[in-house]
Formats: sequence, structure tokens, C-alpha cells
Amino acid sequence: MTTEAILNRSYTLEKEQIPPTVVEQIDDAERAELSEKIKAQLKQQNAVIVAHYYTEPDLQILTDESGGTVSDSLEMARFGNESKAEKLIVCGVKFMGETAKILNPEKRVFMPDLEANCSLDLGCPANEFSDFCDAHPDHVVVVYANTSAAVKARADWMVTSGSAVDVIKHLSKEGKKIIWAPDKYLGDYVQKETGADMLIWQAACIVHEEFKGQELETLRQHHPQAKVLVHPESPSSVIEQADMVGSTTGIIKAVADMDAKEFIIATDKGIFHKINEAAPDKILIEAPTAGKSATCISCAHCPWMAMNSLRKLERVLETGENEIFVEAAVIKKAKGSIQRLLDFTQDQNKLAGDA
Ligand code: 13P
Ligand code: SF4
Repeated sequence: MTTEAILNRSYTLEKEQIPPTVVEQIDDAERAELSEKIKAQLKQQNAVIVAHYYTEPDLQILTDESGGTVSDSLEMARFGNESKAEKLIVCGVKFMGETAKILNPEKRVFMPDLEANCSLDLGCPANEFSDFCDAHPDHVVVVYANTSAAVKARADWMVTSGSAVDVIKHLSKEGKKIIWAPDKYLGDYVQKETGADMLIWQAACIVHEEFKGQELETLRQHHPQAKVLVHPESPSSVIEQADMVGSTTGIIKAVADMDAKEFIIATDKGIFHKINEAAPDKILIEAPTAGKSATCISCAHCPWMAMNSLRKLERVLETGENEIFVEAAVIKKAKGSIQRLLDFTQDQNKLAGDA
């Protein structure tokens, strides 16, 4: 396919490719019983849970109580890397499990549901992406964390939402031309922020893509004091209205730090659990996902994140099912792009600390 064809092709998924968001319903007695069983198994197997903020509150509470971490994609990778546990149980989506395995090939990595994927990962097939990179050998290849191990193996850098602008700024300063994949909205935002020379792949997150600029404007009129916090996987019409654009960790921190009482949040609503913990007295309002005549697909909750549940987690620990494997050759190549980011953020944190 030509460059023009790739850049004009939409890698947005068809409706049929997106599962419905189904959240497991359990009563208090079963929740308590499962939580106790899981904690005992974790101890016995020297295992730890690494969960994303978009997973269900039940899972987040158990993760915290059992000494695991609930965090963003970058911190999930870091934590798994530093943990002394022999097994990592990744509650999130496939690329997070693969990243954990790539960074820790000596550890066994499991996930509650191996079908938990991501529209960005699905929207960037490794073979097509590799052909595209081959056609532009003078470009540095930067991919978002939300990609398969094979795509990361083809990249020079992996970045996350919390690090993308800094990395691209750094590369742009060095005069580098960049291939960016797969999120078109995040790519567009980063390009505007940095002025970098970027070829941008055209996939999208089905959750953030549904936030609507016009409806947000109307909502803001009803809540004139509210601050608007937006994840950069959202469309530009939404980002343009933001008081703050940032990663999931950035959004939680902003609610806690900002003086305002009310916040309109444009990201997966799974994050409300951690925001409520960090800032219990603040009022949180979901950003609108659909116009009057439309129906939302995800309704601001990722269908793949919702596949993680206590019952499935307990089953994985009980049976040893759902282990993540990545080919050694892919691990070797993909590790380079991830490690480059971890080293970069460590240097940046050090510089910030020295300043
Ligand atoms: P971060 O948690 O890194 O901001 O990413 C959000 C996301 O979409 C994960 O799927
Ligand atoms: Fe992928 Fe979007 Fe779900 Fe995150 S919220 S896992 S980017 S589909």
C-alpha cells in the first residue's frame, strides 16, 4: 500500500468487532469470599496483581489490599519490572500483559481474560505497519504503548500518554522525522504541541473517540465553574476545550491539586474510583459520549477492560490458565523500544529532581 493510501485509510474498527461492555455482577458475600481466596493464592504462589485504573473497583481494591499496583500504562510496566514476585497477574488489556512479559521474560505473566484487547492494537496490524516503516527508512518509528509486541519490535521507541509529548519534543529537537502509530488523535495532539514532522497512522480508541465536542460545550454552560480534564486519545474538538490534557495519572493528580470543586472528565469512567479515593470531596461529571439522537458504543467504559473480573482472576490463579507468551526473538527487539522510554523517563525525573 502507498503512503498516501495508508494515511488516508481509517483503521477504526467496525461495530461488529467491538464487544459489548459487560461488567460482572456479584453480591457482597461472593466478593468477600473470592477476595480472600485470591489473596491466599497470591501469597502461596508469590504472585502480584498489576492493574489499570480502568478496571472494575472490586479489582482495584483487591490489588491495593494485596500489595499490587493500580496505575497507568507506564507505571504498570515499571512496577512489573521492579517487583520481586515470580508471577505477575496483569488486569488490563493484552498489550499490557505482553509489555510485562517483554520486560520480565523470566517471570510468568497471566491475565484474567486473554480476549481483552484494545482497538488501537487491533487497528495496527504488524505486517502492514512494518511495510509502512520500510517505505520510510529515514523516519524514527515511535509507537504508543497500546500496540502488539510485534509492532513494538518494529519500533525505535515506545511511548505512553504521559511521556509522548516529551519524547517527540526530544526527537524533533534532534531534527528527526517521525512515524507515529497508531492513535490518530494522540498523534495529532502531540504534533500540535511539538511542531514535529510526523506521519500519523489512523487508528483510534473506541472509548475516547466517542467524546463529543458540541455536547461538551453545552454541558460546560450548565457547569460554568467546572474544570475540564481530557485524556489525549480524545478528538481535537474535545481537547480544545480542556483546562488540562493528560494521562490517567495526570488526570487523578489534577483533580486532587486543582482548586475547583467540579470536574468534567473525558476518559474511561473506571478512573472515577481512584479519583474519589484521592479527592473524595470533589464532584465528578462524565464528559458526554453521544448526541441526542445517537447511542454510544462504549458509553465511556472500555469493553475489553471490563472483561477483567474477580471470578476470572480467581480461576486463573486456581488453574494456571491464561499465561502470556511472547516469542524470544520478538522480546529481544521489542525490549529495546520499551527500555528506551524507561531510561528516558528516568533521566527526565533525575533532571527534574536536580533542578
Ligand atoms: P494511560 O493510563 O497510560 O493514560 O493510558 C490510557 C489507556 O488508554 C490505557 O488503555
Ligand atoms: Fe484501548 Fe481505549 Fe480500551 Fe484503552 S480504553 S484499552 S485505548 S480501547
